[in-house]
This record gives sequence, structure tokens and C-alpha cells, in this order.
Amino acid sequence: MHPDQTKWDQRYRNAQSAGKPAAILEQYQQLLPAEGIALDFACGLGGNALLLAQHGLDTHAWDISPVAIQTLAEQALHSGLFIQSEVRDVDHQPPAASSFDVIVVSYFLDRRLFPALLQALKPQGLLFYQTFTQTLFQDIGPGRPEYRLKSNELLQQMTDLQVIAYHENYFPWRPELVDEACIIAKKI
Ligand SMILES: C[S@@+](CC[C@H](N)C(=O)[O-])C[C@H]1O[C@@H](n2cnc3c(N)ncnc32)[C@H](O)[C@@H]1O
Repeated sequence: MHPDQTKWDQRYRNAQSAGKPAAILEQYQQLLPAEGIALDFACGLGGNALLLAQHGLDTHAWDISPVAIQTLAEQALHSGLFIQSEVRDVDHQPPAASSFDVIVVSYFLDRRLFPALLQALKPQGLLFYQTFTQTLFQDIGPGRPEYRLKSNELLQQMTDLQVIAYHENYFPWRPELVDEACIIAKKI
């Protein structure tokens, strides 16, 4: 068993509320296409997936934690939404090339997966990405710096894409997100 699975299962067993969408997705949801296939990558409780499905997209949600996936499946059923949720180790089973119109990644960072994520976008596909930066104004998020973004790092990863929005350490509509970065980028 992957060591992350036990750790995350344990956390999700104690979850008190449903997943919430990332601020970048919530704020810019008007950019989502009216139809298409979307992925919430390393979805946890699937707050992004719930928003994507509510928007009308054919939504997939992958996470290594069976507890998270089961909780999301129950939440989707309760909300009358259909989400193809799957227990999946994204390190070993990344998405196939040109398979998604929208990919959302929040609070997950494995730099080795950036090439696969970018390749997995269909032409005109959108990537929404948000996670912690190495600036530590608040004591939340992973302690190890390798799990946090360097300054401008998301921009540097997206040089082959068209950047639509980028915020780092300042989200005008959520001033409390002072140690996070987010990007929306389009495959051209
Ligand atoms: C901080 S949580 C973020 C979850 C969700 N994206 C969110 O914004 O709430 C990180 C997630 O990555 C998942 N994860 C870690 N390693 C993984 C892997 N190799 N494959 C799939 N999911 C993984 C964990 O189970 C956990 O749900």
C-alpha cells in the first residue's frame, strides 16, 4: 500500500464537512466551458469535482484515498450529481494525453507530474492550479518546502500555455490566502 493512502484515509475518516472548491475555481468558474470532460486531480473530498459536475461537465475525480473517494461518492449521490470517482495513484497512473478539457489541482504538488498534466489537456483545455507557496505568513500547509511552490514557479511551469490569470501571495477576493499561488492556463 502507498504510504500516503493510510495517512490520508485517517484524515478523511475524521472529516466533518464536504469538500470545498479551490478559490481559483470558485472565483473564475465563468471561464469553464459549457460542456466537456473535467478532472479533479488528487481530489480529496472533491470540492472541485462537485463544482465541475454542478456546472454540467462530465466529471472525473481521482485520489489515492479510498475513504475520500467513498465520501465524495456519497456526497455526489446526496447532491444528485454524477461524478466518476476513482481510487487511483496518480504517480503510477497519470492521465492520458489529450484526455481532458478541464483539469483542476488544488493543494497537491508533485513536480514530476507537471508534464503529464499539461499533456493531458485537450487543445483549448484549461488547467486550474492552486497550492501553497514557500512564503510562510501563516502556519498552515505542508512543512517541507519541497511541497510548496517557489516564487513564480507555476508561471515557469506553464510557459507552453496561455496564462489567463495568476495570483501569488495575494488574492484580491480572499485576502487571507497570503501564502498560496494559483493559475489558470490554457493549452493553445
Ligand atoms: C492536501 S490534499 C488536497 C485534496 C483536494 N485537492 C483539496 O483541495 O481539498 C492532497 C490529496 O492528495 C492525495 N494524494 C496524495 N498522493 C497521491 C497519489 N499518489 N495519487 C493520488 N492522490 C494522492 C491525498 O489523498 C489527498 O487527498
